[in-house]
Amino acid sequence: MNTDTSQAPALRRASRIASIAVSEILRIGARAAQLKREGRDVIVLGAGEPDFDTPDNVKQAAVRAIEEGQTKYTLLDGTLALKAAIARKFERENGLSYAPDEITVGAGAKQVIHNALMATLDEGDEVVVGVPYWTSYADMIAIAGGKTIEVPCSEENGFRMAAADLERAITGRTRWVMLNSPSNPTGAAYSEAHLRELAQVLLRHPHVWLMCDDIYEHLIYGDFAFRTMAQVEPRLKARTLTINGLSKAYAMTGWRIGYAGGPKPLIGAMAVVQSQSTSNPCSISQAAAIEALDGPQDILAERRRSFQARRDLVVDGLNAIAGLSCRRPEGAFYTYASCAGVMGRRTPGGQVLHTDIDFCQYLLQDHDVAVVPGTVFGLAPYFRISYATSQAQLQTALERIGRAVAQLV
Ligand SMILES: Cc1ncc(COP(=O)(O)O)c(C=O)c1O
Repeated sequence: MNTDTSQAPALRRASRIASIAVSEILRIGARAAQLKREGRDVIVLGAGEPDFDTPDNVKQAAVRAIEEGQTKYTLLDGTLALKAAIARKFERENGLSYAPDEITVGAGAKQVIHNALMATLDEGDEVVVGVPYWTSYADMIAIAGGKTIEVPCSEENGFRMAAADLERAITGRTRWVMLNSPSNPTGAAYSEAHLRELAQVLLRHPHVWLMCDDIYEHLIYGDFAFRTMAQVEPRLKARTLTINGLSKAYAMTGWRIGYAGGPKPLIGAMAVVQSQSTSNPCSISQAAAIEALDGPQDILAERRRSFQARRDLVVDGLNAIAGLSCRRPEGAFYTYASCAGVMGRRTPGGQVLHTDIDFCQYLLQDHDVAVVPGTVFGLAPYFRISYATSQAQLQTALERIGRAVAQLV
């Protein structure tokens, strides 16, 4: 008989997470970190966060909140003061009016999406998502018992969902359609005209609700005008959850504040989920978020200009490399470039590149650049670059990618 009680018993995982693996992005990050520890000068273009610092006025507001003793539990899904600031933001920037009980605040947009899915999905309910997509969507849908219905958004369609494809994807079991504009991973954004086409489809299917993930709203370039569905088609507002957050626009990824506006019954159901998981988001971060939303906004335009210059540097640089091609995205801080032109070619080490994963491994292993293969996001052969890093780093990375491709035979 085994009497060794120090041995941990085998863990039986819940079936709801059985299909969910640790993200490939984290694996690439870990490999890049390992190479760095070995002394290699690896440039990591994988991170989904701005390299800028949180604005000083926001930090100061957090310090004041601590000193004033705002360190206790708050109302479950956001203080009234923060909800008022969010209501002003929706009004000012999107022409949308939401009452306090139509607004929810969570620990990041991620928690807000998770709450909405957990609050509404029953086993086998369907959620329509355009491919390529932010991988967390599919995992969160699976945890909530739902089924992801993928709609291809090809490069020819600007990585956007065509209205006819949306129509085909909708069934009697569809609960949600997720729209992410500008998108992670492609940077593609939906124009008002395109949203109107999608709205026509959704108006024909009143049982379908819409989640608009607008987290990259402020990272939009040139004269492209950001629009969100509830604003473009008010008849859909009563079944739309308009999601946003502080992470990307105000460089506040670590503060964990995301929010959404939506119909009161949905917001109430989401509060039930949050009440038995994390309760209120951090009181100090909420105070800081009020300052971010109500304080001076000039930083947004400044950072947008900087991101736009980086986008152009990366897109032009990639398109100058024979074998790669890259669409110029409207927003976010990602490019999604095709590496179809190098598939089947051989590395100096003799390896044939069959997939975008092979290509990305070659870039990391032999040329010290970490990027994420399109396979991770559901559309291959592509690779995603996050250009939320300095122009000098981007320039060096492009030179390395150029050299890597030139060495293929
Ligand atoms: C498309 C998209 N939505 C939501 C989020 C979540 O942001 P947060 O939870 O930091 O607010 C991210 C983060 O990478 C994202 O890329």
